[in-house]
Amino acid sequence: MSRTLNVLFVGDVNGRPGLTLLRTLLKSYVQKHEIDCVVVNGENTDGGKSITAEQLKEFQDLGVHAVTTGNHIWDNWKVKGLLSEHRTLLRPLNYPKDNPGYGFCVIDLKDKGRLGVLNLQGRTYMQPLDDPFKSADWALSKINNETKMVLVDFHAEATAEKMALAWYLDGRVSAVVGTHTHIPTADARILPGGTAYITDVGMTGPYDSVIGMKKEIAIRRFIHQTPYKFELAEHDVRFCAVAMRFDPETGKAVKIEQIVFPEF
Ligand SMILES: [Fe+2]
Ligand SMILES: [Fe+2]
Repeated sequence: MSRTLNVLFVGDVNGRPGLTLLRTLLKSYVQKHEIDCVVVNGENTDGGKSITAEQLKEFQDLGVHAVTTGNHIWDNWKVKGLLSEHRTLLRPLNYPKDNPGYGFCVIDLKDKGRLGVLNLQGRTYMQPLDDPFKSADWALSKINNETKMVLVDFHAEATAEKMALAWYLDGRVSAVVGTHTHIPTADARILPGGTAYITDVGMTGPYDSVIGMKKEIAIRRFIHQTPYKFELAEHDVRFCAVAMRFDPETGKAVKIEQIVFPEF
């Protein structure tokens, strides 16, 4: 078999339960899939809201190469300094330009090549950010100076917007993986142009919940139509990820395999 870059992408790590399960399982999945590069979405690491410097260090110590995020990254105002300091802690590129932080990075994996990681956020049922499609074009014009292999974390609510971006980028990036909705979808595939795609990788966190929140609180919020204090759930913790293989010569994906453990 030709040489490939093997990448593991882990969906939204939610709070201490998610981080603990990641710590328990990551090594075995890295071995099983001969993973060269690990990317994790960490927008919910700090009890569901944002990430701390200590938690970022925990990811790095576990061998995580880059951390993508999304709307919840801004829930802790202290994160702004962290975003400016760390080149591999990303926030969606298409937030208005005066916000701190970086929306993409290029990871040097030595003889395995370089992987561009691009973080974008959708606009449907979310904040009215800059156009993620045109932001992707701009980022690729920069990243492609260094590598053809690009992983896009598209943090978006609407399935249609995620699929549209994947088709828009088909053949130009190695993968578009969806995050944010916290439920794994059963549509992992490689599009005709060679871009791996899944609508949502799913959360690595507690599923005895409503997308990570204690279910009693979520039910009350929907019935009363007023806010209640967010509390992270604790039980039925699952690991959700995708293992992918990219061809360094072409930048195209040759494999995407969904991982949900334990299975539903
Ligand atoms: Fe999330
Ligand atoms: Fe999110």
